[in-house]
Amino acid sequence: MVSRVIPVESFDLVLFGATGDLARRKILPSLFHRFQIGQFDDSSRIIGSSRSKLDRAGFQSLVADAIREFGQAGEVSEGDISAFVETLDYVAVDARGDAGWSELKAHLRDDRVRAFYLSVGPSLFPEIAERLSATGIATVESRIVLEKPFGHDLASAKALNSALRKHFSESQIYRIDHYLGKETVQNLMALRFANSLFEPLWNSTHVDHVQITVAESIGVEGRGEYYDRSGAMRDMVQNHLMQLLCLTAMEPPARFTPNSVRDEKVKVIEALEPVTQENIARGQYRGKNGDSYLDHAGNPASTTESFIAMKVQVANWRWSGTPFYLRTGKCLRQRESEIAVHFRDPPHNIFAGAAGVHGNVLVIRLQPDEGITLRTTIKDPGPGGMRLTSANLDMTFADSLPEAGRPQDAYERLIMDVIRGNQTLFMRGDEVEAAWAWADPIIEGWAHSGGAQPQLYDQGSSGPEDALLLMHRDHRRWRSIGD
Ligand code: BG6
Repeated sequence: MVSRVIPVESFDLVLFGATGDLARRKILPSLFHRFQIGQFDDSSRIIGSSRSKLDRAGFQSLVADAIREFGQAGEVSEGDISAFVETLDYVAVDARGDAGWSELKAHLRDDRVRAFYLSVGPSLFPEIAERLSATGIATVESRIVLEKPFGHDLASAKALNSALRKHFSESQIYRIDHYLGKETVQNLMALRFANSLFEPLWNSTHVDHVQITVAESIGVEGRGEYYDRSGAMRDMVQNHLMQLLCLTAMEPPARFTPNSVRDEKVKVIEALEPVTQENIARGQYRGKNGDSYLDHAGNPASTTESFIAMKVQVANWRWSGTPFYLRTGKCLRQRESEIAVHFRDPPHNIFAGAAGVHGNVLVIRLQPDEGITLRTTIKDPGPGGMRLTSANLDMTFADSLPEAGRPQDAYERLIMDVIRGNQTLFMRGDEVEAAWAWADPIIEGWAHSGGAQPQLYDQGSSGPEDALLLMHRDHRRWRSIGD
């Protein structure tokens, strides 16, 4: 196969929180895989940093272990690991004190792209930004990368944005929402804006409704304390589902440039109508033998939701009258994420007496089995007159494009985009604030009603009854999870 890899400029990437979970599971294995395919070579440096008193060899061995454990199965070779760890260095830095900063500065080279990846708790973002600036480590060209959660509400997001903007301009700030790095999410833009078939139908005249589902089979075990302060609304809807909604609903940008795309996404968020409590269903998974949500959260009185479904209206010319139903939850029947665009039924049925003329459904499957399916109505083959049935035009990317090779982790693409200086797949400050401005009143709505108790649901189910009712009320049905 001809290599499609476009090498990036040589860089110095400082990874704060380098010994943490996200770094070991995602960031370092992603860097490894891009090194392996030759997107960068050992003229680049990845400088791990945390409070741990490690030396270079200690960090190299920690990273080698992380790659063996979390690198893509079948793709990891010991020879490649040995070559990759030569790009690593380590400096112990105290984010809240003076130790280590001058040593870190001495490790950085003037003629390289310089990026700082803050894979640390958000309470450290302002302090690290401040010290990077005060020590002169950050230059006007440097990039700073931040992990979610980006604020807890509008006020905290604004405070964080203004703390960062004291030291970095917006064009230097890369706020990660890893959903934007997923191949199929980018494919949604290709599907809509590189094909002429769908766009003329992509509006309320032809689309009855849209369902966006991000179902997870895992629970919150191990992260209960963080999760209990967030819930599904803050952890998933305000960011990941919001991004999926924006990419589905936005107008075509004039160009595929960072600000053209992000301008259109902000317009969608600003067009969202407030969501009233009767259009929301919240759930919490129950369990036996100490594995319920309450057990995992370590808080027997918690009213935090591990599931949420809601009906959202985008109040603009394109979408008025076409609801978007969002749903996400933990401990559901299967890990399954998709966007399903339900087209309206044909206006007139010429097959009198033939049951089964339904609207088409276009499903963009994000995970697993990334691909696109179009439900169509066809003649049921064989004798029996003009009977109709449904059949899928089905494209699974792995089968249709086998030369694409192994699936890419979202972080691979995003980290390389930081080095390239391309912000298209990162959230802009105003976008994050707009999303909080929409989410805050919803959260306050149930907080004011005494924390409104979420409805319990069984693990391995498709969520609470209330979510079904939310749809039935509108004479619609959720697509089933895990069939
Ligand atoms: C994270 C959330 O942002 O996304 C997690 O904090 C969630 O709770 C995860 O499990 C889902 O990501 P993915 O890529 O596995 O769908």
